[in-house]
Amino acid sequence: MAGIFGHRAGKTGRVRGGGRGMSADFTICPMSLRDCRRGLFRRFIRHSEDMQVWKYASGAGILVEEAFLRDWDRAKRRRMEESLRQNLRQGSAAFAAWKGRRLAGYCILKPQPLGSRGQYLLLHCLQISKQYRGFGLGKRLFRLACGEARARGAEKLCISSSPSADTVAFYRRMGCTEAAERIPSLLEAEPEDYQMEFDLLDVH
Ligand SMILES: CC(C)(COP(=O)(O)OP(=O)(O)OC[C@H]1O[C@@H](n2cnc3c(N)ncnc32)[C@H](O)[C@@H]1OP(=O)(O)O)[C@@H](O)C(=O)NCCC(=O)NCCS
Repeated sequence: MAGIFGHRAGKTGRVRGGGRGMSADFTICPMSLRDCRRGLFRRFIRHSEDMQVWKYASGAGILVEEAFLRDWDRAKRRRMEESLRQNLRQGSAAFAAWKGRRLAGYCILKPQPLGSRGQYLLLHCLQISKQYRGFGLGKRLFRLACGEARARGAEKLCISSSPSADTVAFYRRMGCTEAAERIPSLLEAEPEDYQMEFDLLDVH
């Protein structure tokens, strides 16, 4: 892995997580191709379930009762591993949370500007393995992606969020809002997703 940087508070570094009354040490740092060893995702649990999802009705987001289930089988985990490598080769930034040598979570920031003015960079794939959710790792990875997007000159982050009520609630908690501009290519790739954005220039 790329190493240990700085100390807590939004920076990469070691974190003592205390979610759900438990305690565990994690290392959070940028990822490089060297981190993408074979089998990286073997023990990664994507599983999430919900009974409510966000949908668009007449252009506006509404919350509806609908069963939602997402999981990765072995083949999908291999594809995600290859996709992470490909993203890194193509100039994406990636950040990881490690529990020892085990990947606890990661996110990818794509390099291509999107939107009518190129105002967005895409936060792609923010995922925390199920047993490590609720430790503050998602928040830390989100903030690192924001810092990197600012450094790359973006005004806003865009997110093609999984439509589950829980995921959207997490992004709202991070300060995200429904996307002011929906990106057609993202809609085409993930028609069921709920597009959100985060204002990187709003420091409050
Ligand atoms: C969504 C996800 C990334 C959140 O990561 P996490 O590590 O579990 O979240 P954190 O512990 O960092 O939570 C950060 C904050 O969000 C809040 N939050 C998290 N889930 C929430 C929920 N379902 N409803 C309301 N608030 C929530 C936490 O309470 C915490 O609040 P705080 O700032 O007051 O401490 C993670 O649950 C996950 O990977 N889910 C499955 C995959 C997924 O949906 N990924 C997004 C794809 S677009």
